[in-house]
Amino acid sequence: MRIRQSLVTGGAGFIGSNLCRALAARGERVRVLDNFSTGHRENLAGVEVELIEGDAADLATARRAAEGVECVFHQAAVPSVPRSMREPLASHRACATATLTMLEAARQAGVRRFVYAGSSSAYGDTPTLPKIESMPPDPRSPYAAAKLAGETYCRMYHHAYGLETVALRYFNIFGPYQDPGSPYSGVLAIFITRLLAGQPCVIYGDGETSRDFTYIENVVQANLLAREAPQASGQVYNIGCGRRVTLNWVYDFLAGELKVNLRPRYEAARPGDVRSSLADIQAAGRELGYMPQVQVEAGLRATIAWYRRAPEGV
Ligand code: NAD
Ligand code: UD1
Repeated sequence: MRIRQSLVTGGAGFIGSNLCRALAARGERVRVLDNFSTGHRENLAGVEVELIEGDAADLATARRAAEGVECVFHQAAVPSVPRSMREPLASHRACATATLTMLEAARQAGVRRFVYAGSSSAYGDTPTLPKIESMPPDPRSPYAAAKLAGETYCRMYHHAYGLETVALRYFNIFGPYQDPGSPYSGVLAIFITRLLAGQPCVIYGDGETSRDFTYIENVVQANLLAREAPQASGQVYNIGCGRRVTLNWVYDFLAGELKVNLRPRYEAARPGDVRSSLADIQAAGRELGYMPQVQVEAGLRATIAWYRRAPEGV
């Protein structure tokens, strides 16, 4: 049997490196394209991958990366709402231009399927919850608009060129290998590592902001399913857990698990922030066979355990 060859763009990042680990563990060939703008080589320590260092928005590099590949898992992006508010053009390049470039490279290389890391930020601040794929998108930040543009390009490549594309709208993902070290990092990576170090946390807004926090293992599962699902081409699917918790709840849960008696500091909500987020995951269940296996509490405990063990500097 031929060994399957995948390309994971952004494979040195949080989600990408977890996906690489899962693919390599299945005995598959994995190539990574990453420019290390937010990812780290150490995330792939011990994982057998072929590494191409370069920019996914550069067509020659993208073509080299896509050569001989059966499936592209396109994870590369600069995934921060506040950073995009400060740098809208850079956000567009990393999120939208890179996606179009990878799609074109995939088409030219005869790739079978292209699985895209979309974002629930595409929905914006809809008062109606849960957020379901049939709702009109309403991006509120340059990042959200650029991620949505990537989805639109995926759909167009399915219709116009017959390239199989599947967009997964991730809701807030957390777990091992998420970088806690930047002001733009995901909130759970920041909270867990600060509480472990006995340092205070900042909650932007009143703490009643809610998210459908989703453990990484569920997202890896969704990607593997999206690679195969026969009806999925040209579609977009929410990937979350179907449950939302507030920042206040998650902070109290973590402080309780870590037995830390520190109060958070409250500051003004960040511009571009979405207030409430909750995924309707029925379409992913029906058409991909997706079912979250790890709920938020178990995921938080596993993530705490991982950061406790993580090497210095992670
Ligand atoms: P991450 O920052 O850890 O990973 C992104 C990776 O892409 C990094 O390794 C970075 O170096 C690489 N990269 C960025 N621009 C690149 C370029 N032009 N060329 C090559 N490589 C490039 O972020 P993550 O949280 O793992 O996010 C992965 C994907 O999932 C992104 O597309 C993001 O928009 C999407 N997403 C993430 C979340 C979440 O909660 N983490 C939610 C929704 C969507
Ligand atoms: C996250 C992802 C984004 C993804 C989106 C979709 C990250 C960095 N961003 O954006 O890629 O597309 O989900 O679901 O993973 N906050 C604090 N204190 C902090 C840091 C953040 O209160 O120290 C707040 C933020 O203001 C926000 C919430 O926590 O209200 C979540 O922030 P963040 O983790 O940055 O994620 P999103 O902006 O939701």
